[in-house]
Amino acid sequence: MKILAIETSCDETSAAVIENGSKILSNVVASQVEFHKKYGGIVPEVASRKHIEVIAAVVKQALDDAKLPIKKIDAVAATYGPGLVGSLIVGLNYAKAIAFALKKPFIAVNHIEGHIYANFLTPLLRSTPLHKMERGDPTPSRGGVRFPFICLVVSGGHTQLILVKDHGKYESLGRTRDDAAGEAFDKVARFLGIGYPGGPIIDEMARKGDPKAIDFPRAMIDEGYDFSFSGLKTAIVNYVNRQTIRQTQPIDASRIPDIVASFQQAVVDILVEKTIRAAKDNKTHWIALAGGVSANSMLRADLEARAVKEGLKISIPPISLCTDNAAMVGSAGYYLIKKGKKSSLDIEAVSTLRI
Ligand code: KG4
Ligand code: ZN
Repeated sequence: MKILAIETSCDETSAAVIENGSKILSNVVASQVEFHKKYGGIVPEVASRKHIEVIAAVVKQALDDAKLPIKKIDAVAATYGPGLVGSLIVGLNYAKAIAFALKKPFIAVNHIEGHIYANFLTPLLRSTPLHKMERGDPTPSRGGVRFPFICLVVSGGHTQLILVKDHGKYESLGRTRDDAAGEAFDKVARFLGIGYPGGPIIDEMARKGDPKAIDFPRAMIDEGYDFSFSGLKTAIVNYVNRQTIRQTQPIDASRIPDIVASFQQAVVDILVEKTIRAAKDNKTHWIALAGGVSANSMLRADLEARAVKEGLKISIPPISLCTDNAAMVGSAGYYLIKKGKKSSLDIEAVSTLRI
């Protein structure tokens, strides 16, 4: 079964063709990051307008790359939430129109569920240890995650620990009570004036810093499965303000690598600790990573090292499948259809959709 999938929940316009839930025939991602950079964050109106401008070309490119005439697709999938409502509407309506015109089944996919399914794509074994790989390397997945598993979903909008029992069967164990992990990266980078989006910039800059330089707080690390990152962000603001007051001048740029490395280590310690504990408490042998923040090199290396130490198996998608993309939506859509599910063309975008 070949599914055409569309994802426009945030600032990436993406279309993909996925065969039988796991084989990527094409995966086109048009990022709007350059348009939002100057504002230091996503401007929702700009995002929806940009989606409208490129959606047709992105879908055409995905079909061309897959060498598949549009009539040959078997079903259409699209993200219907959570996300920015104006952005979601563009991809959802475009997908519904294709399904209607071609009289093909349509399946609406939860974006978080999509992120989880990045772990079902390209089940290839990788030979190079993760910690030896550079950011941007096309690291294939560790190969075929098995049920039940704990999935850590960490993105710009979500931080959630989910017990995945089977296809489509989820139990949410905990989520963030305030900022998402990616949001914390973006806010800290904005505060330090080092650019947008913060995640990849901090990841890069932290390589030059000492992650033990400053002992930032690790909120709720031993407490339940919920997360809280807003206190950590405030701790950084306070730390920097104390330094600048003492020096009565802007913070020395040479101090920034230590600050971001220490911040990143605090976030990673919290994420790793809770994920491992969730796996042990729920007696799963597998853990999986998902969402934009799982592109983080320290998180990938530390979580893999801890998993190996604890005798757990781990699935880490390649970086290109961690950030928003339609391939993961196509995989989730396939397994939903296989379970007999189908969405009505009346379905609407739900910006606050949950798992
Ligand atoms: O999943 P995603 O592409 O979009 C949402 O669904 O939110 O995640 C985007 C988030 C941003 O906050 C970005 O800063 C973060 O993922 N991110 C990273 C890295 N690459 C992207 N965070 C930490 N380290 C990275 N290397
Ligand atoms: Zn996402």
